[in-house]
Amino acid sequence: MVGPPGAGKGTQAQILASELSIPKVSTGDIFRANVSGGTDLGKQAKAYMDRGELVPDEITNEMVRDRLAQEDAQGGFLLDGFPRNVAQAETLNKILNDLNERLDAVLELAVDQEEVVRRLAGRRSCRSCGHAHHVEYDPPEVDGVCDNCGGELFQREDDREETIRRRLEVYDEQTAPLVAFYRNEGILKTIDATGAVEDITARAVDALRDRS
Ligand code: AP5
Ligand code: ZN
Repeated sequence: MVGPPGAGKGTQAQILASELSIPKVSTGDIFRANVSGGTDLGKQAKAYMDRGELVPDEITNEMVRDRLAQEDAQGGFLLDGFPRNVAQAETLNKILNDLNERLDAVLELAVDQEEVVRRLAGRRSCRSCGHAHHVEYDPPEVDGVCDNCGGELFQREDDREETIRRRLEVYDEQTAPLVAFYRNEGILKTIDATGAVEDITARAVDALRDRS
């Protein structure tokens, strides 16, 4: 999946992965789990994440290589937040080649900048299950408590206004070129990612079914 911060990649990836019975592999989630677990990887990643910058490719690529080699990824997987620049996309092709796999499709979630800022500023993430609520679009039944699992909701460190702005710049400079990269490879599917969550899921499923 590719799309700007706040496009709804995590939200859609969670639903699609469960419908397709494949694991969702989210580099952002793996980094955040390492930050809260206080691991060396987490310590290295945190400084970059808090500034809205990308974690260096050497760290990210090795982490993905290890994750995709795990047992549960052998029947397919859905990548959320990786690759994030052309160098990562080229490394991904090598990793998949070594595993005798290939990407079936790249789903681009198209949303304008004003809407992604609204989505990020109002996001409240669950500490336990990772579900993203929104104060306005998807408010929890009980304030501060996840509907899914009863976990505690919090605002991500990188969802502050300054950092949101930097993440959007980084997306435009480094990640947006992937759209042309995958269009060239003939596997890009772009969908309108505005409107109700379930309508966007339906568009995603239609786009993915269409794959050649
Ligand atoms: P990452 O976690 O990948 O963040 P991101 O790409 O900025 O994406 P987000 O998680 O912010 O947004 P999303 O598109 O998943 O939206 P969501 O579904 O939550 O990365 C974080 C950091 O980790 C990076 O900055 C970097 O430092 C590092 N990193 C990660 N991967 C890396 C890599 N490959 N290389 C290097 N560094 C890497 O939705 C947002 C909100 O909108 C929610 O509140 C949700 O409830 C709401 N919402 C969702 N859909 C709708 C809808 N249809 N209508 C209304 N509201 C909606
Ligand atoms: Zn939860």
